[in-house]
Amino acid sequence: MKIRLEVIKDVREICQQHKDEPSPLIVILEEVQKKYGYVPVELQEVISEETGVPAAEIYGVVTFYSFFSLTPKGKYVIHVCLGTACYVKNAQAVLDKLCTILGIKPGETTEDGLFTIEAVRCMGACALAPAVSVNGKVFPRVQATQVDKIIKEFRDQEGK
Ligand code: FES
Repeated sequence: MKIRLEVIKDVREICQQHKDEPSPLIVILEEVQKKYGYVPVELQEVISEETGVPAAEIYGVVTFYSFFSLTPKGKYVIHVCLGTACYVKNAQAVLDKLCTILGIKPGETTEDGLFTIEAVRCMGACALAPAVSVNGKVFPRVQATQVDKIIKEFRDQEGK
């Protein structure tokens, strides 16, 4: 994927802004993730050049923390909790239904760039199991039969 020159320039600036902080790498990666929605290998190399942190180390950090992504995420990031409390209440069926409706697998993004599905571990809402969140908004006690409605809510917001 070709990264635009102005993005590279911007990422260099982000690095310069934070380079004198005690441990700048995570701060820089967070800012790039938030601003561009992902931290591809090409930008990791730019960050490596600017900070002196080896590119392999940066790759390790990006792939270790689920907050960071190597590929662009959708406008709506759907987290389906597969932690124990949610799993025993049929969260897998909810995940399967979502995947069927959107035509993607966990970790993937729809072609129109609207939705990303991620299976996650306990999101701290066990009393609401099975829990699903969309961009941080938690939907409680979701049943597979309700998934259509949730997706429709966001499609309607987009006029799609
Ligand atoms: S196990 Fe799903 S929110 Fe805790």
